[in-house]
Amino acid sequence: MTPDRTQNSSASAPTELYKLRNKNGIEVGLLNYGATIANLITPDKEGRLDDICPGFADLQQYENNSFYFGGTIGRFANRIKHGTFTIDGKKYQLAANDGAHSLHGGVQGFDKHIWNAKESSAGHGSSVRFSRLSPDNEEGYPGNLDVKVTYTLTDDDELIIFYEAATDQPTVVNLTNHAYFNLAGKEGLDILHHEIRIHADYYTPADSELIPTGQLAKVQDTPMDFRSWKEIGARIQELGNSPRGYDHNYVLHKSPDKSALDLAAEAYEPASGRRLEVYTDQPGMQFYSGNFLNDSITGKNGRPCSQYGGFCLETQNFPDSPNQPTFPSAVLRPNEIYKSKTIYKFSTN
Ligand code: BGC
Repeated sequence: MTPDRTQNSSASAPTELYKLRNKNGIEVGLLNYGATIANLITPDKEGRLDDICPGFADLQQYENNSFYFGGTIGRFANRIKHGTFTIDGKKYQLAANDGAHSLHGGVQGFDKHIWNAKESSAGHGSSVRFSRLSPDNEEGYPGNLDVKVTYTLTDDDELIIFYEAATDQPTVVNLTNHAYFNLAGKEGLDILHHEIRIHADYYTPADSELIPTGQLAKVQDTPMDFRSWKEIGARIQELGNSPRGYDHNYVLHKSPDKSALDLAAEAYEPASGRRLEVYTDQPGMQFYSGNFLNDSITGKNGRPCSQYGGFCLETQNFPDSPNQPTFPSAVLRPNEIYKSKTIYKFSTN
């Protein structure tokens, strides 16, 4: 289970693709550009292997676009209203890259940097650990932030993503991965017939610019209710947003032990029999149905990445939590270590 390393290069940055493989044929391709999940090959119910993560074929597409395919998102995943927040009475202004707001770390978020990489093959699987120093004032965030993201593939068919960060000044941190999934494989069309279950009774309603109102709303009797298995497309037409689709942060069921890895969501694609379970210690998860994908984007199979061509389950703190006193705090101080873990587990039935 030793990781492979393939050299590759583009005009602007030297990149490397690391491969993790397990005994059941699962293979994860990881780019040091953005600490990105570039490929994720898993078997279907007949044992046929296929890539279940839509994305780009070459580095320049990653550099020139902001669909965040498989990227590590930081320093703050999701939106911060007007790109501003205050810590200890001091106001900070971030770069705005989503109208007036900051989205997914800014103009050049963590998904658009080259990371250091270190492979290891110990214990319960093989790993690649990516690290980088996000300098003080990068995209306007205070403090030098030392960040590590470790991907481990186990023989139990789990991809474990472990995030760590430490700062030398108070700052805000919210890290996630933005993998898109299409469990039908690379010839899969839209994900509207995938079935999904999300372990949440509440979500955080947002305004038309996807900034949370600060309230928690019940999913019950709304199209947001995925407490029992439902096709993603079953009630999507009832959503009033534009482009229409799921782009909502769910308030996950949490064990009293904050570090417990609770089951957040499950997805199933009936034709392939592929199933995905997501476990996390995070309080929230953005369920995004690929609403902004469109036919002008050419994916790695040479076909368009059409709207709803993949879905994301982005485990995270709540959006705009630096400005919402009732949301879990995202502040990280110099004497603290940020740690978070998410597991994607693959199976078939
Ligand atoms: C956000 C969407 C955004 C998308 C970009 C998602 O995490 O919630 O609003 O358009 O990322 O790919």
